[in-house]
Amino acid sequence: MAHPAERIPTRTHTAADDDVSKRLLDSAATLSYDPAVEIDWDAPLPPGQYGLNPEWSTLYGTALWAEMTEEQRVTLTRHEVGSIMTTGIWFEMILQQMVLRDQYLNNPAGAEFRFALTEIADECRHSIMFARACEKMGIPQYRPNQVVAQAGRAYKTLARGELAYGGILVAEEVLDVMQRDWMRGENVLDIVRGTSRIHVVEESRHMKFARQEIRERLRGAGTLRRRNAAFGIAVGAYVIVTSMVHPSVYKAAGLDVGRALAEARASEHRRAMMRTSSRHLMAFLAENGLLTAAAARLYRRIHML
Ligand SMILES: [Fe+2]
Ligand SMILES: [Fe+2]
Repeated sequence: MAHPAERIPTRTHTAADDDVSKRLLDSAATLSYDPAVEIDWDAPLPPGQYGLNPEWSTLYGTALWAEMTEEQRVTLTRHEVGSIMTTGIWFEMILQQMVLRDQYLNNPAGAEFRFALTEIADECRHSIMFARACEKMGIPQYRPNQVVAQAGRAYKTLARGELAYGGILVAEEVLDVMQRDWMRGENVLDIVRGTSRIHVVEESRHMKFARQEIRERLRGAGTLRRRNAAFGIAVGAYVIVTSMVHPSVYKAAGLDVGRALAEARASEHRRAMMRTSSRHLMAFLAENGLLTAAAARLYRRIHML
């Protein structure tokens, strides 16, 4: 008779899969950061410096942007980056719980287990780092609305396998492209440049891990499962992208919230930025059969496609 443990359905995790995690572990051992010592948290914030490169502001290029004073632009970009960081913390909380749940009783001798825990440790430092940056910039807690907050709660409790790692990949890819610009942004606060640099380096490993996990979990998956995953990931992307910048950031900059939202939504510049930052992600999804017609419709609505 089979031992009860043998009846637990197992997935195929090959030696080649584990090699990916081994390389990521080596990379993490070589280059990881402690934001507590890496960032100069006591340095004053130069009053004229932006929170993010103006091109990444949701209002850049609009009529409203042209009417704004330089001071308003500085305030707005600081609140925008703070809102994105707060959304980042929210998402990292979801991610840590999903990865921890996914690794429950996984073989601790494997590199996959050790890298997954390394990633959780990274995310824990990132969230503290973003929290400190927001406090330093005087940004309030921009929380997602009640519906989205509860949807996030359900997702982090229920999502597994390719759906969990798909959501993780979406959030990491979108943030990655912006942060590559922020880390070398001219006239951008050092605190944003520094936190972005740390995040870009460490997240590039997380993205490799997520892509590998998605490929592995989908190995041999049927059409229905792939379609469900594709749609679920697209819904996740929709929620993440639409929650990134809180409407109250416009109020903080002394703007009319209704007008700002309307102009940001209609901005061609903004749409082009979103499409550019999603190009790499869309290529990966297409390669893995995750860019179904239903998913593509959702991505088009938020201009990721
Ligand atoms: Fe992170
Ligand atoms: Fe990450």
